[in-house]
Amino acid sequence: MSIKKNLIEIFKSSKFTLKEAYDANPDIAKESVRARIYENLGTAFRKIDRGIYMTIAEDAIVIEGSGRNLRCLEDSSIDCIITDHPWNDTVSTKGGNRNFASYPVFNYEQHDFDEKARVLKEGSFLCEVIPAESESNFDYLYQIKKMAQTAGFQYYAKVAWKKGTFVSNTGRKAKNTEDIMIFSKGKPRALKPDKQRGLDENGNPTRYMSGTNGMLPTCFDVQPVPKKEIISQSEKPTALFEQLLEYVTLPGEIVLDQFAGSGAVGEACIKKNRKAILVELVKEKATNIAKRLHAVMIDEVLIKKMAV
Ligand SMILES: C[S@@+](CC[C@H](N)C(=O)[O-])C[C@H]1O[C@@H](n2cnc3c(N)ncnc32)[C@H](O)[C@@H]1O
Repeated sequence: MSIKKNLIEIFKSSKFTLKEAYDANPDIAKESVRARIYENLGTAFRKIDRGIYMTIAEDAIVIEGSGRNLRCLEDSSIDCIITDHPWNDTVSTKGGNRNFASYPVFNYEQHDFDEKARVLKEGSFLCEVIPAESESNFDYLYQIKKMAQTAGFQYYAKVAWKKGTFVSNTGRKAKNTEDIMIFSKGKPRALKPDKQRGLDENGNPTRYMSGTNGMLPTCFDVQPVPKKEIISQSEKPTALFEQLLEYVTLPGEIVLDQFAGSGAVGEACIKKNRKAILVELVKEKATNIAKRLHAVMIDEVLIKKMAV
């Protein structure tokens, strides 16, 4: 058995130190064991702290910690980020000045986008769920685009999430949308089938062009999670992320949600055969995410703790 396979088998779903890796391969030179780990960082192994590694054979990992600090993730190790950050809306949708979120909130700063750019692979997509533009957030939404650009992202497109038949009629204008703002790290990766330039014997394209897998729709028309089924405030429907994943990722790829809430992105990933790394600050929510994902997959979902 190869060193890599042996390590995955022995340390599946748990972290290990270099010494433990050497001990697990007693007949092999330490340099070779170390070299195999380094060679496979980002694909089979991840460095989670100095001298501590873990296998990434799992389909889903929940990290209890801050998604604004991704030091446990290698540079260029993530195929896509889909996230919905807890932005600090000081003007409630119902009017007046108060925070309406029951979870910790913040506004993005430049370092958040620099960190996203660091962990994403070149050409990969960054998908930010953002509120529909309003009198209280238009300036912030502009700042998000500028911070992304400064970090090396290119604006790709914005697609509305139309909340099915739901309409909120508070505030100045009836609302039934949020937006998904999509960027690429540098030039977008090639996921768009080029049907003009050759198909294989099964009729599948053999060449791909720069861009998402197919032209993005005008909107994702998906009903929100019914109020009585919501397990976490601002929870998005899994079906929304399932649709999005088809456009911006391939099966088997690694998707990061830095602010996971209910874990809806994780469930969508499992259903669409993608791997998920989910970060959530609130311990109780992280525990609930692990339970939720465990219910839709065979393997146990472990929670890793990361210092905040
Ligand atoms: C808007 S909600 C995410 C909703 C999620 N997309 C869903 O469908 O359930 C934002 C989440 O970020 C969490 N959060 C706040 N600050 C965080 C931080 N620094 N790191 C990780 N999670 C954080 C909140 O506890 C909340 O659950």
